[in-house]
Amino acid sequence: MKKIAIFASGTGSNAQKIVEYFKESTTIEVALIVSNRKKALVLKMAEEFEIEHFVIDRASFYASAEDEKESPILLKKLAEFKIDFIALAGFLWLIPDYLVDAYDEKMLNIHPALLPKYGGKGMYGNHVHEAVKTAGEKESGISIHFVNKKYDEGGIVFQKKCSIDEKDTPSDIAAKVLKLEHEYFPKTIEKVIENHT
Ligand code: GRF
Repeated sequence: MKKIAIFASGTGSNAQKIVEYFKESTTIEVALIVSNRKKALVLKMAEEFEIEHFVIDRASFYASAEDEKESPILLKKLAEFKIDFIALAGFLWLIPDYLVDAYDEKMLNIHPALLPKYGGKGMYGNHVHEAVKTAGEKESGISIHFVNKKYDEGGIVFQKKCSIDEKDTPSDIAAKVLKLEHEYFPKTIEKVIENHT
């Protein structure tokens, strides 16, 4: 059984789709949900589905091994739960080097636009869809990519487009993109785990 941890900061609708997708799986299990916000709705979802979860604060998240003279707390937790793979589903903090190194090609992020456009620091949530709208793009979509040490720059493993009508508002674009995320993120995680771990 391969074990996944999902990191999420917000609503967790993607996290929920992933949980539901693997609920009956005999090969992949969502074993842990990590959030950086105590009040994140994703934690309620974790409780409902009886999935282990915890909140990490910024200092612990970015503590290097030297600071603590031993492994960062997060690495210890991931080891405790025997986590093989990480899915970032709306997790906004830049991933520290120790985690990128420990989960090289075993950590995917989903981004709500067609990278390399509309990515990088500050490009999250509605900022992305507003920028896409302002630029007058005729299409947007999703990008699922490995996580490296820079925001949204890891190798892209999957993209899917949706068209944008002239009358679409940023929220309309967001809705179209979210639909694609829900449909394709769990399947892509499954494929990558099958091929890479
Ligand atoms: C998604 O649009 C995802 O692409 C982005 O953050 C959003 C998370 O939404 N990284 P939700 O919390 O899964 O509903």
